Amino acid sequence: MANQQFDVVVIGGGPGGYIAAIRAAQLGFSTACIESEPYADPKGEVRLGGTCLNVGCIPSKALLRSSELFDEANHAFVMHGITAENVTMDVGTMVRRKDNIVTQLTSGIKGLFKKNKVSLLAGRGSFAGRENELWQIAVAGEIVAAKHVIVATGSSPRHLEGIPVDNKTICDNVGALALDAVPKRLGVIGAGVIGLELGSVWKRLGSDVTILEALPDFLAAADPAVAKEAWKTFTQKQGLKISLGVKINTVKQGKKGITIDYEVGDGTFKLECDKLIVSVGRVPNTAGLGCGKVGLKLDDRGRVEVNDYCQTNLENVWAVGDVIRGPMLAHKGMEEGVMVAELIAGQAGHVNYDAIPWVIYTHPEIAWVGKTETQLKNEGIEFKSGQIPFLANGRAMGQGDTTGFVKMLACAKTDRVLGVHVIGANASELISEAVTAMEFGAVAEDIARICHAHPTLSETMHEAALAVDKRPLHF
Ligand code: FAD
Ligand code: NAI
Repeated sequence: MANQQFDVVVIGGGPGGYIAAIRAAQLGFSTACIESEPYADPKGEVRLGGTCLNVGCIPSKALLRSSELFDEANHAFVMHGITAENVTMDVGTMVRRKDNIVTQLTSGIKGLFKKNKVSLLAGRGSFAGRENELWQIAVAGEIVAAKHVIVATGSSPRHLEGIPVDNKTICDNVGALALDAVPKRLGVIGAGVIGLELGSVWKRLGSDVTILEALPDFLAAADPAVAKEAWKTFTQKQGLKISLGVKINTVKQGKKGITIDYEVGDGTFKLECDKLIVSVGRVPNTAGLGCGKVGLKLDDRGRVEVNDYCQTNLENVWAVGDVIRGPMLAHKGMEEGVMVAELIAGQAGHVNYDAIPWVIYTHPEIAWVGKTETQLKNEGIEFKSGQIPFLANGRAMGQGDTTGFVKMLACAKTDRVLGVHVIGANASELISEAVTAMEFGAVAEDIARICHAHPTLSETMHEAALAVDKRPLHF
């Protein structure tokens, strides 16, 4: 017999889960969200916000900003005639600032739950069975019954055999966001999003950073022109050492620090470092969820299998966010959470998976939406391309930040925008215009005819659209 009953129970309080819960409650459903993780709460109380707020998006961006300011004070002030000597960084203050932001935001979600009347159930949730068309969910020694269940249990860092993560010396994202001093030598395994973002943070603060990447291509998911520009900037201008095509053989800890033996091609190499970040992707959280008990189907990569509408193989069981297919991005999970709540309410929820932006918060930032040039070529789609460097933009000049470009790809026949790729300052904000354009099925000519404020970085988007038709005005 269930202790409580709800219309909707969400398992997991990360971006996918908390947004699904809030939207379900807004739509009039009695809703509970189960979350188990205290993260770093000093009182041991459950914290909402999942990976994103606690040990992901938000804390990483806080550290990126602090390290950016330190870097600017050391290297960029001088061009404005500002002298800043003996600039120092107190890592403790930087980390406390980050922790305060996390505390504010995670308790903010608790406030949103109260406002929207979402019940927070603390503990690990798992499927216990089904009775009278209601799912039975076990949590903290009780059973709650639910008409609909939304699985939003997220993901955890993937670890490598023989490389024990203690989050002090060898770290995944959790430890890498909480280092209490700048390591002299920092090793990173994996030149993906976390490796580049957190590698940049500690490099700017003075670490000698070496990133070892298994793939032979750098940033293989990005447009090749963007990947090329990023490689040049990170390795030649910023001094990040990145080795590609690496096979790690052994990782040993000793008195001198960590020694990594690895191969590249026919050569064998040794890297010595004081701290190591392992950032080689993430795995879905399904262990202990009781999937086997109720027959919840997983796919070949251990993710909860869903259709285009995030429905699982079980009636009234849905899944969103990192625990299912698709990019592991907070905004993707949030959109899915909204869609599922609206579908439960009989509304026409949808997620346009073709218009989900990607952002890498390095400096310069990298952002894109839609197809890359490689994908279009592989798919045999004829396209036109317009590319505008930030060097041709007055605002970028004024800001002293002219690295990179905006590249727009449009269908050769219809002019429809198929992909937009930005590397440069504020790429994370600029990409929104491209997302909006693609969501509404715009053609490049539409963007070319929109009045963009002057002087702004957004004029590069305007010019790139003009360049698609070979008529840029400022380049
Ligand atoms: P999660 O955020 O992982 O939340 C799942 C929650 O479920 C967790 O709180 C977990 O404790 C809980 N849970 C799991 N199992 C159970 C259970 N059985 N019972 C109860 N609770 C359970 N994405 C971006 O879009 N932009 C970024 O800038 C960005 N930066 C990132 C930086 C880092 C360092 C990392 C690691 C990730 C970053 N991401 C970023 C990815 C983003 O954090 C994830 O895509 C997002 O958090 C996924 O949301 P989710 O709700 O699916 O899962
Ligand atoms: P990732 O998938 O971005 O990169 C992992 C990298 O590690 C890949 O390049 C892969 O080839 C490499 N790799 C895998 N095994 C390896 C091995 N044995 N040796 C050397 N290299 C190896 O994963 P990452 O960086 O761990 O991030 C996880 C996810 O978190 C991202 O995919 C993304 O979805 C999310 N994230 C998003 C951010 C954003 O939106 N700005 C920031 C950080 C994370």
